[in-house]
Amino acid sequence: MGKALTSKVTWVGKVDWELKRFHGDEYSTQKGSSYNSYLVRDGKNVLIDTVWKPYDKEFVHNLQKEIDLKEIDFIVINHGEVDHSGALPELMRHIPDTPIYCTANGVKSLKGHYHQDWNFVTVKTGDALELGSTKLIFVEAPMLHWPDTMFCYLTGENIFFSNDAFGQHYATESLYNDVVDTAELYGEALKYYANILTPFSPLVTKKINEVLSLGLPVDMICPSHGVIWRDEPGQIIQAYLKWAASYQENQISIVYDTMWGATRRMAEALAAGIRSQDADVTVKLMNAAKEDKNDIITEIFRSKSVLVGSSTINRGILHSVGGLLEMIRGLKFTGKSAAAFGSYGWSGESVGHITAALADCGFRVLDEGIKALWMPDDAALSQCEAYGRGVAEVR
Ligand code: FEO
Repeated sequence: MGKALTSKVTWVGKVDWELKRFHGDEYSTQKGSSYNSYLVRDGKNVLIDTVWKPYDKEFVHNLQKEIDLKEIDFIVINHGEVDHSGALPELMRHIPDTPIYCTANGVKSLKGHYHQDWNFVTVKTGDALELGSTKLIFVEAPMLHWPDTMFCYLTGENIFFSNDAFGQHYATESLYNDVVDTAELYGEALKYYANILTPFSPLVTKKINEVLSLGLPVDMICPSHGVIWRDEPGQIIQAYLKWAASYQENQISIVYDTMWGATRRMAEALAAGIRSQDADVTVKLMNAAKEDKNDIITEIFRSKSVLVGSSTINRGILHSVGGLLEMIRGLKFTGKSAAAFGSYGWSGESVGHITAALADCGFRVLDEGIKALWMPDDAALSQCEAYGRGVAEVR
């Protein structure tokens, strides 16, 4: 069912409470998500984005309750990824000639996904669609987070349609930021930024400043996932500017995997050393094989330093740590320090491998890390504590 935002704009998306994995298995969505689509009715009518394919028929069926599909004059696809364009083939079966407004890269992604020669109209920053008393202005936003991404702004209603930016994988029937649990909302918004937008932080800052310089009044920010920011919409813009600036809190994360508990004991001794040196620092220990990988990434995002540990196995590292390091490498964190640790029984290569990987991830590597042979005894644990105290002193 549609939900009216204003007399001219109606939310016509899908709330997906069942979604637990996104981007294949790359992103956990314990709180579900939504695919937000918006219908603007003025002298001309425009549909902005659609929903993911599993809900295509439901989407079109519900849309028909809102409007005779033939009365949709334009479709705008801000971004071609399938969670927003997946219902296009079903919709276009009904209205095959309706023009689809998107960026030039949007045409590439839509043709690449659906192999259809629809009536594409490419737009650039500053182009506008006259709707009657209102106007939809397009703003290209490449790499936020795909090359095809754009935003659009509806004059008169003062609504900024931001697609993935400012979104959250957060299912709610309540629709707006001021009527949901604030801690949950910001937890999901931060996780979303950390796991999806971090590599593009310099572009986030640049694009936000570009849009702010236009001085447009914004009453609502309508992203393509999660809640609509209607109460002080500038708050999420300010949060993004903060997160994009090599964000960190007074936190040190210790991430490890362990075969027989020796590397875990090292992790705990490192934590004790850090805390003994700095009682104010937040220390979090996470077993990479047991904790949600995206939650670990979020904690790393919040950290000033990261310690990564693994037992040595087959002259290498445990697969959970290897997979996590690959995720971290792609996210391009900046301004954080890191070091490796790990136990071993024979050859002991894990710490060297992790140290090299941390450098490749762009961390400021503190030193060659710390190893413990077999199960660490009291002396080895004391060395770990001393190492932890040193990490706590790093600024
Ligand atoms: Fe929500 Fe990049 O798709």
